[in-house]
Amino acid sequence: MQDRQSPDSESVHQTVDRRHFLRLAGAATVAGSAAVVGAAAVGAATRVVTLPANLYPMRTVTVVDPTSARRALRPGPTTFDIGGATGSGLGFNGLIPGPMFTATNGSTATIDLTNDLAEATTVHWHGLVVPTASDGQPQDTVAAAGTRTYTLPINQRASLNWYHPHPHMKTGSQVALGLSGLFVVRDAEETALGLPSGAYEVPIVLRDFTADKKFGLTYSAKSSGYLGTAALANGTRSAYHLVDKAVYRLRLLNSSNARVYALQLSNGASFTLIGNDGGLLPAPVTVSEIALAPAERIDVLVDLRTITQSVHLRDATSGWSLVEFRLRSGAASVSYSGPPATLSTVTALSGEKRTRTFTFDGMTQINGTAFNMTTTAFTVPQGDVERWVFSTGGNGPHPVHVHGASFQVQSRTGGRATIYPWERGWKDTVLLNDGERVEVLIRFNVEGRFMIHCHKLEHEDGGMMMSFLVGPAGAVATPTPMASASSTSTSSMSGHHHGG
Ligand code: C2O
Ligand code: CU
Ligand code: CU
Repeated sequence: MQDRQSPDSESVHQTVDRRHFLRLAGAATVAGSAAVVGAAAVGAATRVVTLPANLYPMRTVTVVDPTSARRALRPGPTTFDIGGATGSGLGFNGLIPGPMFTATNGSTATIDLTNDLAEATTVHWHGLVVPTASDGQPQDTVAAAGTRTYTLPINQRASLNWYHPHPHMKTGSQVALGLSGLFVVRDAEETALGLPSGAYEVPIVLRDFTADKKFGLTYSAKSSGYLGTAALANGTRSAYHLVDKAVYRLRLLNSSNARVYALQLSNGASFTLIGNDGGLLPAPVTVSEIALAPAERIDVLVDLRTITQSVHLRDATSGWSLVEFRLRSGAASVSYSGPPATLSTVTALSGEKRTRTFTFDGMTQINGTAFNMTTTAFTVPQGDVERWVFSTGGNGPHPVHVHGASFQVQSRTGGRATIYPWERGWKDTVLLNDGERVEVLIRFNVEGRFMIHCHKLEHEDGGMMMSFLVGPAGAVATPTPMASASSTSTSSMSGHHHGG
């Protein structure tokens, strides 16, 4: 049996710029890797990436269409191939990650949950805008051995979404032990673009993990956020994927509890970024590094037509290889003339009716209040555009997520003080680091009860969540409660006056 910490590793030296060196040095404390710490002492020009000697073929996700027939979804204990060994954890239908559901815009998915866990759970469809009854919120848990049917009307543009448990105070452990899966929405606009498909479209669930000596996934809650000691790509450690000389479309999810990745290609090549949480961007953008926080997704094209042997998708923060893309013997050369210069249309939200502010306080509160499952904090009228402002006094990163709508990021001030290309278009999760203030415009089109929360799962489990209502169009908006200590009035909502 192979231990990831044992010296069956070889060091690969690569040159990086000083920024990455500094980031790496900072991460060394967290990762506790002797090899990385050693590199920090050597000098800024050298970077050491520790690669296991053995790499394992990355599992391909199992695809299921829940619109052509109703489908069963059973979370429960399972064994799985973790890469060179049999691991154990919690899977959906025995799979880690769970099946990838696919649906076309305009269809309806029907998924019958049977809870084979020893405790209550609920399944949330992150990124899908569905009625409250099927949104899988913490107040709607399914007891052990219980069942619930999720009816999901698919009424949104092509996008990569995902699903995961959402029971209050148990989300962190259930996700870390293996429970998450992808949910892809397709539409005619995206199909007409002729993006790489079939074997050339590769969905990958990225996450970190810890395991015991028998490769059983383990979890120990830490209020500042759980960090694993190595990466899984589609449930496979030290993963490689055999490729042709072709352009690949990678659909990436960060399903980690708390880890933020700084994604790069090891050969220094750039990604062609084409989409994110809410679907396609207006046009492709070339980027050399992408920060991907928990729950965020990106859609990138990676050109492997000229590689000679292999390229690693890696995390510049930890120094980990996440997946090696390795030319298969007899690799075909596949031509590709795209992507088209125009991908989609993103109509900018504007004309906000009011502003709400949300402070992410400590490790357990929003606006000075911990989650209360029995109350809703405020009401937003359906169809109104609102400006939501996120800030924090510390304990970041806080990946801020909203159920029930996508939003458009307007600004980030303080901290990194910029909006990155992968934060354009439609988002449902945005990274808020310490010292930052992020403003978004949001509009809810579906009435019901939804929530805003930190997607660092230990903060979420600790209570950094808030439920609210989307009322009928024209309903009276009610203000968002603020901590009395941080507000001079009882209202956090300010009217927005437009000249004219
Ligand atoms: Cu993916 Cu309420 O979360
Ligand atoms: Cu969600
Ligand atoms: Cu947080």
